[in-house]
Formats: sequence, structure tokens, C-alpha cells
Amino acid sequence: MLYLRNVSYHPPATPTPILRQINLQVAPQQLTLIVGPSGSGKSTLLEILAGLAERTKGEILWREQPLTSLHLQQLSGLVFQFPERHFCGATVLEELRLGHPELMSDRIHEALTEVGLEHLPLSTSPQALSGGQQRRLAFAVQLIRQPHLLLLDEPTAGLDWSMRRQLVNLLAKLKQHWSLLVVSHDASELVEIADQCYALRQGELTSVTPETLLTARDRPPVPAPNANAL
Ligand SMILES: Nc1ncnc2c1ncn2[C@@H]1O[C@H](COP(=O)(O)OP(=O)(O)OP(=O)(O)O)[C@@H](O)[C@H]1O
Ligand SMILES: [Mg+2]
Repeated sequence: MLYLRNVSYHPPATPTPILRQINLQVAPQQLTLIVGPSGSGKSTLLEILAGLAERTKGEILWREQPLTSLHLQQLSGLVFQFPERHFCGATVLEELRLGHPELMSDRIHEALTEVGLEHLPLSTSPQALSGGQQRRLAFAVQLIRQPHLLLLDEPTAGLDWSMRRQLVNLLAKLKQHWSLLVVSHDASELVEIADQCYALRQGELTSVTPETLLTARDRPPVPAPNANAL
């Protein structure tokens, strides 16, 4: 179990904190969903949990043990938004082996099986894959390191309806083996597989029911004051 206690992030360059007193716990084999609008701090929170940015206040604990950024780098696997843009291997095998040349073929096969790409020839160019397959490969790149926590930034962004559906099914399967923390601006398809839901607004995290997230999505935008006067 991973705990965040009063975690804040306020770099000196910003007038106001980007994350404010975040309290969160991520349980094993569960999917935690955080939904928030653009600029609310979703990616920043994931960067902190991946050990890529340093919180300015608060504690992150694994069971009882306080964690440093270095611990978090080992514990977490972060899949960035549009991860396929960062592929640099010429083949699927190269992509999976980047940084881990020692990896045995059974670990590679295991990771590809986990994401449903076990039949893919290892010599395929990542660029030749479909959008959905590329997303799966990006998950496998992290899973191969066997992280305790998989962090996913907008995992369904840019995919068409049927690929999004397949990806949601894959996440439901992955959470049987891993802890997943997913951030998105759109709750719609992810809510149904979430075990706990949070809303993030201007750096403040609140625990919410799935219904709240869906209702907030459907609510029409509030008209700006004095709209008629323009
Ligand atoms: N290192 C930094 N220094 C200054 N400001 C930053 C830094 N990192 C992020 N920000 C600001 O923090 C806020 C939150 O950014 P973040 O990228 O985490 O939002 P987000 O919820 O992921 O948005 P989106 O949905 O557009 O991806 C933004 O206002 C951003 O400009
Ligand atoms: Mg973001």
C-alpha cells in the first residue's frame, strides 16, 4: 500500500502551489482514477510519484517506510501521455530491451503476453503498429521492469472508440496483477473499472463517487457573467 500524506508541490517559480496537501492511498490490485481538467496538476502528481519531480512538502510511504525519489523511481513505472511519440527502438525487441540489455526472453514474452501482444514478431518496427498496439507496447516497456505501481497519464487519449474499449478491458485485466493509478481529463470509460475515484481541481484532490465524476462531465458549461452584455 502506497500512502501520500499532505503532499504539496510549490516550485519557487510559481506564485501558487501546483499540488496542495494531497492525501491518497493506492491499494494493491486496484485501479485508482484521478480526473481533473487541463492544468489541474495530474501529470505533475504522476511525475512526483515516479520520482521525477521532488515534492516540496509532505510524505510518501510504502507501508510504513518513507520513500525518496530514488525509491519511487524503482517502485513506479510511468507511461507518459502519447508514449508512442517517445519510442526510439528500431524493433519491438529493441524498444523493450532499452536500458535492460540483460533481459531474458521469458521476461520479454511475459510482458508482451500481459498486454496481449504475445503474437507480435519481435522484429516489427514500433512505428508499424496500430495506435492501440503502440499503447500496449508502451505499457509492456514499463511492466517489464516489474514495478509495484503503474502510473498512466491519459491512457486512452487519441485512440478511436474501439481501441479505447480494448484498452479499458486491458486495464481491467492488468489490475488483477498490478496497482494502477490512472489520470485523465475524461472519466467516462474509466469510471466503470475504477475501485476508487478522485477529482483534482487546481491542485486539490477530493475523494468522490463515480457518479459525481460522470455527472460533472455531463453538466452543461456555466454561462459567463455578463455574457449578454458583450
Ligand atoms: N516545473 C514546473 N514549473 C512551473 N509550473 C509548472 C511546472 N510543472 C507544471 N507546471 C504548471 O502546473 C500546472 C499543472 O500542470 P500539469 O501538467 O500537471 O497539469 P495536467 O492536469 O496534467 O494538465 P493536462 O490535462 O493539460 O495534461 C500547470 O499550470 C502548469 O503550467
Ligand atoms: Mg497532463
